[in-house]
Amino acid sequence: MEYEISDKLKNVHGSAIREIFDLLKRGNIISFAGGMPATQTLPSKQIEGILQNIISKYGVIECLQYESTLGKALLLEQLKSFLAEYKGINAELQNMIVLSGGQQGIEFMCKTFVNKGDTVLVENPTYLSTLQIIQTYEAKAVGVSSNNEGLDLADLEEKIKTHKPKFLYTVPTFGNPTGGTYSIENRQKIAEITARYGVMVLEDDPYSQIRFEGEAVPSIKCFDKSENVVYLASFSKIIAPAMRIAVAVANPAIIGRFNISKQSTDVCSSSISQIVVAEFIKNNLAEHLKNIIPIYKEKRDQMVNCIEKYFPKSFKYQVPNGGMFVWGYFDNERDLLACFKEIVDLGVAYLPGTHFFPDGGWKNTMRLNFSNATLEQIEKGIKIIGEYFEGGNK
Ligand SMILES: Cc1ncc(COP(=O)(O)O)c(C=O)c1O
Repeated sequence: MEYEISDKLKNVHGSAIREIFDLLKRGNIISFAGGMPATQTLPSKQIEGILQNIISKYGVIECLQYESTLGKALLLEQLKSFLAEYKGINAELQNMIVLSGGQQGIEFMCKTFVNKGDTVLVENPTYLSTLQIIQTYEAKAVGVSSNNEGLDLADLEEKIKTHKPKFLYTVPTFGNPTGGTYSIENRQKIAEITARYGVMVLEDDPYSQIRFEGEAVPSIKCFDKSENVVYLASFSKIIAPAMRIAVAVANPAIIGRFNISKQSTDVCSSSISQIVVAEFIKNNLAEHLKNIIPIYKEKRDQMVNCIEKYFPKSFKYQVPNGGMFVWGYFDNERDLLACFKEIVDLGVAYLPGTHFFPDGGWKNTMRLNFSNATLEQIEKGIKIIGEYFEGGNK
């Protein structure tokens, strides 16, 4: 039978990352391509402990029944203190909805606000699944240039005037893919400019707790006087992706709309996951973060030291102060997409940077994930890539 795919989906291609994962399944490849937490940081013992008596402690209804779409009261209570303590955000019950991962928040923003033909502004480069979601809603992603401070504010204002976007999507702390962090002033100005033009902001913040050095920076949401900012925090990187738990913080009118969006998507997030995350925030999170940050810092340091040792000097990059990625580029016109498969054949994978740009191009860029490989794999993999490029290949 010939399947007639909807207009919405027929031009949406699988995420480049997913296809690369399929390629990597063929065996023994060192991968710097994904964005997965280190297996050794996944809190298996603590979660096993919570799960062991979860039903006798909370009861069958609380654990195994459908739950309110907005989220469990016991999790929302923990989220309120988590947001205040870790993110500097004061949220009341009416400002929060529990989501099945931060990705669901990006989807709901589009589902709720975006019509066919609309424009969404994104930082250039941006998280590639966001590009895929925007495409699914038949909207156009337009990139805003960035600089060392964060977004190029003149370009932001110009693009707001030209494109009248539905919202701006941004990952301002240890961004994906660049690992960069916007300055406080930049965040303040983004809040001001978008409020002035009545443009919403989707601030996606899965990485800010994974900080190796420097002071924490307030979120854009902290400067949100007109309530045009929707803020997302996820527990995938700081507890475990399998929890599929995140929270959106926004004006109650937006939360109400997300509630309607979620009813038709998945009814509610998993009750068991919500209880586990609530217990974990209450009893384990502070200590867990203290344990995992040095692990990630060591991996970051290893990757940076190996880049210095093995990569040609024409490779430019910034050392990230946190998160999971090193972003870099060659200052000549090397095509890192074209040589990707050859390098996979040598046993190592990175992510070609072109996938993160709404208009493609930038083929001399790459994203290197340091969180998932072991220290030995980082040395081996970076050496292989470095030798490939040092050998004059392109
Ligand atoms: C910037 C960004 N947003 C959202 C997500 C999705 O995370 P979640 O597991 O919370 O859906 C990721 C995952 O890598 C990410 O990097």
